[in-house]
Amino acid sequence: MKLLVIGGGGREHALAWKLLQSPRAARALKVFVAPGNAGTALEDGIENLPLSGIPELVEFARKESVAFTVVGPEAPLAAGIVDAFLAAGLRIFGPTRAAARLESSKAYAKDFMTRHGIPTAAHASFSAAAPAHDYLDKVGAPIVVKADGLAAGKGVVVARTPEEAHAVVDAMLAGGGSSHGEAAGIVIEEFLEGEEVSFIVMADGRHVLPLATSQDHKRLKEGDQGPNTGGMGAYSPAPVVTPMLHARIMREVIHATMAGLEHEGESYTGFLYAGLMVTPDGGVKVLEFNCRMGDPEAQVILMRLKSDLVELVEHAIDGTLDRIEAEWDRRTALGVVMAAQGYPEAPRKGDVIHGLPALLSAATPEKDFHVFHAGTADRGDGTGIVTAGGRVLCVAALGDSVRMAQRRAYDIAEQIHFGGCQMRRDIGYRAIGQKK
Ligand code: AMP
Ligand code: GLY
Repeated sequence: MKLLVIGGGGREHALAWKLLQSPRAARALKVFVAPGNAGTALEDGIENLPLSGIPELVEFARKESVAFTVVGPEAPLAAGIVDAFLAAGLRIFGPTRAAARLESSKAYAKDFMTRHGIPTAAHASFSAAAPAHDYLDKVGAPIVVKADGLAAGKGVVVARTPEEAHAVVDAMLAGGGSSHGEAAGIVIEEFLEGEEVSFIVMADGRHVLPLATSQDHKRLKEGDQGPNTGGMGAYSPAPVVTPMLHARIMREVIHATMAGLEHEGESYTGFLYAGLMVTPDGGVKVLEFNCRMGDPEAQVILMRLKSDLVELVEHAIDGTLDRIEAEWDRRTALGVVMAAQGYPEAPRKGDVIHGLPALLSAATPEKDFHVFHAGTADRGDGTGIVTAGGRVLCVAALGDSVRMAQRRAYDIAEQIHFGGCQMRRDIGYRAIGQKK
């Protein structure tokens, strides 16, 4: 059986690694990752494919009789990879381009939530700077300004002062060479206090299967300070999600979203990720939808998944997720991201990573950790593995408590070195606080 994972980050390393653990691996299971990274290249049973164009990927899947494809990142989804595979009669797990607008357009997502009464922060959308400035004068600060488009979690600024908010509006809408991309429009949104939770489900068009809960740390610096990133570390489960809150999220957010999509004649197949704020009054509001798994949430969630991911994805593609349940390791998984110098603004590439080979080849018998690669490359010139992207590695470990998982993850991470490495030392601190 041949499977294909699209993408080359830590999430895709985790997806491919977990697919490969299927009991079917005994019957010659092979997982291709396009393009993959230096870590996926090291895994037995995984092969990197240097392909990125959708037509080439369709052609490969057809020629090699790939049983199914799983899409990791948002960009190929927004580019219509699922539409192309389906048109070619190929099995693929991910939302169509239209369904993926829940992530690819903040304005679409906010309007969708408003139409269907899904709890979210109050907002207004703008495509010109002048009315946005007027609006800011009315609402004041703190306030959140978001670029309308895919920005890998980096097109969002929480402005603490009106001056900062005005400057961000200018940077996003009036050109000015900002790092926020050339936004076609922006969303200005009420600032929400609370604790963030990542709530990810698998959807098959009609049914949903919730995955284990998780939380990530989006800010670059310890104590959740500094600029937003794609995520500097994560853990699962999220202790803040009590069984009662879980039921509420399923009802008010997940089922409401599926019903809303159905009402509008859309159907959603794929991972659906609701980024939620648990507000001080115990309610939840949706910060954003992602039409994929989170990164680094995927790494910690998949470390805890005991069920066969191949079987789960097959049920999802066949529309029979109602017939299956997922089984989870009771332990906590915690992942620490090691990022390149200059991330997130301008990550430096080419730093040699030391301390890796021994770790990867000497996975402990109890298998309580895994080093997932993201921005890594092996140039094949004998230098070894070098940094090749913003987030370089995610060291994930299991433990009987958050603290133990944390200790284990940092024990491993501290053996790995590269020039300019940025690593937060406090991943999981909120959960440890709560468990006290
Ligand atoms: P988003 O990509 O929309 O999830 O935004 C990225 C990050 O910005 C979130 O994970 C939050 O940390 C923060 N953020 C976004 N929207 C809000 C909001 N309305 N209130 C407070 N923080 C927010
Ligand atoms: N870690 C947040 C994300 O994947 O969007």
